[in-house]
Amino acid sequence: MQPALILGLETSCDETAAAVVRRGADGRVDVLSSIVASQVAAHAPYGGVVPEIAARAHVEIIDAVAAEALRTAGLTYADLTGVAATAGPGLVGGVMVGLSFGKAVALARGLPLVAVNHLEGHALSARLAADLPYPFLLLLVSGGHCQLLDVGGPGAHRRLGSTIDDAAGEAFDKIAKALGLPYPGGPALEKLAEGGDPRRFTLPRALLGRAGCDFSFSGLKAAAARLAEGVADAAGRRDLAAAVQAAIVRQLCERTDRAMALYAREHEGRNLSFVVAGGVAANRAVRTGLEAAAAARGFSFAAPPLAYCTDNAAMIALAGAERLALGLTDGLDAAARPRWPLDEAAALARPSHTPGRKGAKA
Ligand code: KG4
Ligand code: ZN
Repeated sequence: MQPALILGLETSCDETAAAVVRRGADGRVDVLSSIVASQVAAHAPYGGVVPEIAARAHVEIIDAVAAEALRTAGLTYADLTGVAATAGPGLVGGVMVGLSFGKAVALARGLPLVAVNHLEGHALSARLAADLPYPFLLLLVSGGHCQLLDVGGPGAHRRLGSTIDDAAGEAFDKIAKALGLPYPGGPALEKLAEGGDPRRFTLPRALLGRAGCDFSFSGLKAAAARLAEGVADAAGRRDLAAAVQAAIVRQLCERTDRAMALYAREHEGRNLSFVVAGGVAANRAVRTGLEAAAAARGFSFAAPPLAYCTDNAAMIALAGAERLALGLTDGLDAAARPRWPLDEAAALARPSHTPGRKGAKA
């Protein structure tokens, strides 16, 4: 069997991204190119992502970004065997740009199209750089989402827990904004927290000891924003940033520990693997904390390389390649979806837990 050569397209938020992956018959995946054109500068004056600006910016460069991905891979459109585009969830104007572009390529070249769930891209992203068999326990932690999933393969995701209000990345971003840090706030807050004393400020510990694996960050966000108004000196700001980061890490670890206990019972006798993915997985304290939590429960630990934690198209191409190998393709009438839960059954059963309700991708 010829290897699959898949073009991936990602336009659901503020990055215009295109990538090419090759997937061999043995399932081995190589990333031949991964181009990410960030719109950070366009949104920075507004302190967050402006949907209309994002959609227009995607339209302007999507064809150049895709061409660059092919050029870097040393390929042309004629070499491709499939196209994968993010079809949601996300800012729907942007999603429509990448998905329409993908449909046009599929139609013009007679290629199969895969409409990829952005969250499935994040869920599989650790497989871009590591030999990581299914199933695994995943903490997906980004700007719009915070959930724990039992990942059995493409299309086989079972949600064990999710945020009941804000995503962890949103808490990072909003608190960073209250501290006067530039957008995007997560990396800026991590930098400010360096050398800070996390014990100087006491922050609420939401859901502490509560059964289940859900998360809550809105109380922390409000308390930290209030405290930020009262600290003007550099040391105080550093200490508050350190306290916020520690509080977020603590909750992520506590809730993940519960999910690990549950998952280990359900998968008794099997190898136990834990993966953290999504933009917040780029945070060093988050990685270190979760790695220790995994070790304590006998789980192996994996996280994608930093470039594949934040939004990128390599993960979309990978999800597309895996779906194609299973014969899962979509029609040219595939819809752009602003909301698209990975575990639709759980989301229907517990709609109040819709992840990322207030995030940039809501
Ligand atoms: O996965 P992503 O690029 O987009 C979504 O799908 O949401 O995640 C972006 C989020 C933002 O909230 C950003 O502040 C956060 O990931 N983030 C970080 C770090 N790098 C990105 N949060 C904390 N520390 C970081 N180093
Ligand atoms: Zn994302």
